Amino acid sequence: MVSAGELLLLAGLVLAVAATGGFSQTNHLVTAPQTTQFLEIGSNFKATCMIINTTEVTADDLYWKLSATTVSKELYTKLNESAISVTIPVTGVQSEWLFCMAKKGNSPYFFLHAGKFVYGVLLKKGYPPGKPENVSCVAVQEKTTISTTFRCKWATVGRQTSDVPTKYTLNVVVI
Ligand SMILES: *[C@@H]1O[C@H](CO)[C@@H](O)[C@H](O)[C@H]1NC(C)=O
Ligand SMILES: *[C@@H]1O[C@H](CO)[C@@H](O)[C@H](O)[C@H]1NC(C)=O
Ligand SMILES: *[C@@H]1O[C@H](CO)[C@@H](O)[C@H](O)[C@H]1NC(C)=O
Repeated sequence: MVSAGELLLLAGLVLAVAATGGFSQTNHLVTAPQTTQFLEIGSNFKATCMIINTTEVTADDLYWKLSATTVSKELYTKLNESAISVTIPVTGVQSEWLFCMAKKGNSPYFFLHAGKFVYGVLLKKGYPPGKPENVSCVAVQEKTTISTTFRCKWATVGRQTSDVPTKYTLNVVVI
């Protein structure tokens, strides 16, 4: 005998953000955020680049590259002598690398350690999932006892892209 239990449902959404990456202790540039970002198409993304553990370069030597394109200086903000930030519009669906780089023509140290003067963060893009609709659950009820195992379903809302990992958290309270 199967009947619908009386269930109060609260559906919540959590965007799971995977943390990947890391950087060498001896790297001279680091960005914030440091790791892969999941961004909403149409939004703006702000990143900061900081010079660490060196006086070979200053904020004026820093620049940003998005994939193979140098980002226009108009989008930079110099924060202090060792940090700049950039704000870029998030367009297109393709994942892209945003690199902070430094350039200095006449420093032998820089020339020999150019690899330490670059830091990249991977930008993954997508449309955010909406709050699911039409959530319903069915549980087996025998007299006053409702089974602890039950079946729930819901309709997803919004454009889902494989680049945006989505975790649905369902909180169920039996009343
Ligand atoms: C600074 O650089 C030196 C030499 O490259 C390295 O040994 C040291 O670990 C670095 N310190 C930090 C805090 O990154
Ligand atoms: C420069 O600005 C960055 C970002 O706000 C900050 O983390 C850093 O401590 C600042 N450095 C100095 C020397 O003020
Ligand atoms: C939820 O159910 C209503 C009524 O049946 C329907 O109009 C609506 O399209 C459903 N939502 C989704 C996302 O399927």
